[in-house]
Amino acid sequence: MKNIHSNIYRPNYANLKKAKKNIENNNVIGLPTETVYGLAASAYSDKSVKKIFKLKKRPSFNPLIIHFKNLECVKKDVICNNYFIKLYRAFCPGPITFVLNKSPSSKISKMANAGKKTVAVRIPKHKVARKLLKILNVPLAAPSANISSRLSPTSASDVVDEFGNQIKFILDGGRCKIGLESTIIDLTHKPTILRQGAITSKEIYKILRKKIAVIKKSKVIKAPGQLKFHYSPGIPVLINKNYPRKNGAFITFGKKFKSSKNHFNLSKKNNLREAANNLYKTMRKIRKKNYKSISICKIPNFGIGRAINDRIKKASYKWQSK
Ligand code: TXA
Ligand code: MG
Repeated sequence: MKNIHSNIYRPNYANLKKAKKNIENNNVIGLPTETVYGLAASAYSDKSVKKIFKLKKRPSFNPLIIHFKNLECVKKDVICNNYFIKLYRAFCPGPITFVLNKSPSSKISKMANAGKKTVAVRIPKHKVARKLLKILNVPLAAPSANISSRLSPTSASDVVDEFGNQIKFILDGGRCKIGLESTIIDLTHKPTILRQGAITSKEIYKILRKKIAVIKKSKVIKAPGQLKFHYSPGIPVLINKNYPRKNGAFITFGKKFKSSKNHFNLSKKNNLREAANNLYKTMRKIRKKNYKSISICKIPNFGIGRAINDRIKKASYKWQSK
């Protein structure tokens, strides 16, 4: 059965089979994960991967994350090291991506990992993504389902907002539980976090018992999360503010801010997970209401708050000195 948008499909067995057919026919589909929605296609097919880059308007040097069903499948395409095995056992399936060396016999399209020696590996937890991976014989290349540099989608209708009818088949997995992209950790040298997410450096440290570096600025763009301007709602974003601009919206957090028409509270309960989950949804809502700017109050910088601050800082980059 179809949803209100003709390209959104309920994830029943018949539609999962249709999704499989689409992947086998080198089409790109919208796929729910526990972090954000992805634009998924066969990671083994240049033809499919090319379509993803084109749809997203993504520069070809920027590699895609490859989604696998389990460890056995990962082993076919990448070289697994001890760090990875330990973290896999602790966190997978889950909202974490590992950068590992590609194996010489890997079938992953060179385009998918932008010709690099490494591959970003993720084993998603969302049951719809898992069900699809289970019936497929290929891993899925899946970047977030947004136009490059824009906000990631956290519901099937957000994917329609981004791409309209360009994506013919979107599986509806409801609202994403986490709402921010996965943590990315490079394990090819000393463990280094390239992008912060729901799984924190502290939690990773507890498993590896090794200092976890967190990349701040890098000359080489390893992840576009590191491109300075990203996660943009398309209007000016100003951070660490105590009030909105004229005709602007104000994103708040916690009890101390009063309610008002243009105030949008990420979590009245001071809950950072709830705030993370509401961030992109709220920014999309504000943009649709035609506010001219978004001011955001200070957000506590611990736990998933670090990932929130990373995203809003990048969203505000263009407007920082204005
Ligand atoms: O939560 C997520 O990770 C979502 C869902 C759909 O799985 N995906 C996602 O993909 O956020 P994307 O393409 O929007 O972000 C992937 C990031 C990019 O910053 C890319 O540069 C980085 O992963 N990346 C991919 N392969 C890499 C590699 N081999 N080395 C370093 N970074 C890599
Ligand atoms: Mg993205």
